[in-house]
Amino acid sequence: MEQTGISPIGIAGAGRLGQALGRLLQDRGQPVVAIAGRDPRRTRAAAAFIYKDVLPVSFADLPSHAARVLICVPDDAVEEVAHILATAPKAIDMALHTCGSRGPEALAELESRGAFCASLHPLQTVATPAQGVADLPGSSFGITPGGTGEGAALDWAVEIVRLLKGQALTIAAENRPLYHAAAVMASNYIVAMIDAAVVLMGLAGVEREAALQALGPLVRASVENSLRAGPVQALTGPIERADERTVAAHLLALDALDSAPETVRQLYRQAGLHTIEVARRKAPLVDRGNIELLLRQGTSS
Ligand SMILES: NC(=O)c1ccc[n+]([C@@H]2O[C@H](COP(=O)([O-])OP(=O)(O)OC[C@H]3O[C@@H](n4cnc5c(N)ncnc54)[C@H](OP(=O)(O)O)[C@@H]3O)[C@@H](O)[C@H]2O)c1
Repeated sequence: MEQTGISPIGIAGAGRLGQALGRLLQDRGQPVVAIAGRDPRRTRAAAAFIYKDVLPVSFADLPSHAARVLICVPDDAVEEVAHILATAPKAIDMALHTCGSRGPEALAELESRGAFCASLHPLQTVATPAQGVADLPGSSFGITPGGTGEGAALDWAVEIVRLLKGQALTIAAENRPLYHAAAVMASNYIVAMIDAAVVLMGLAGVEREAALQALGPLVRASVENSLRAGPVQALTGPIERADERTVAAHLLALDALDSAPETVRQLYRQAGLHTIEVARRKAPLVDRGNIELLLRQGTSS
């Protein structure tokens, strides 16, 4: 669906995010014309997912189809792909990359050849293209302008956020690793924490499917309370109540089981130590010194 007056868009990277963003932009009237990937079969399938007329091409061919490129490849490959695009016969006008931990410096080679560049990181988890299409609208996006500052790439990034009815968060380039570490903790580490809970439920005799179902209301209410009232107000449980005997019983049970993975044991202890920090903000005068000692025994730090 090429449109007159709007410069064509190419997607570099035929994975989960490239497909989801491609489809969302296409559905909102944006001229997504081509997608590039490493594997021709996967790239063809990705093109078909976005829209029937989208062309599957190589990275080197992408600039001959699109003046604006959204780079959606793994963090370590951004510079490599920027190099291929920068050395293609046809120059591109602008590029955004979707990596969270890097700023637009990863696109320096394109910038040095006159392209406007910026970073546009969706603060959302995309496990499949279809789930990304459902969940990316309304999300926040971490934006970092390139060396050219308030340029056309920044305007394009803001335009994408507006099209997806999201919120733009401006992140300084040097703060992106911290910003991305926060995203990892809020997403990937919650997933790992749920997995650890399922492991312990399994050791308590509750099978995986039943455990996931049983934990659902607890997880959802904890997340909702934390986001609505803030983590300090949302905190409940034995550490908040300074219930030392309960924490001691948990640790005893965890240490007694050879089958409990060491990572789960350590996670319980380390997350417990940060929970003490949150509990202290709520009730600074309550003594949790013994609980802290119990949790610190056996930590690998
Ligand atoms: N998924 C998320 O939740 C999410 C959220 C926010 C931001 N992001 C960011 O979006 C970017 C892409 O993530 P993704 O989850 O969409 O990854 P993905 O599903 O693994 O897809 C990555 C794509 O890049 C290609 N690729 C891998 N290594 C490459 C290389 N060295 N050179 C060229 N192409 C290469 C892959 O090709 P093959 O198919 O041949 O492997 C694939 O098409 C990352 O920077 C990530 O940080 C992802």
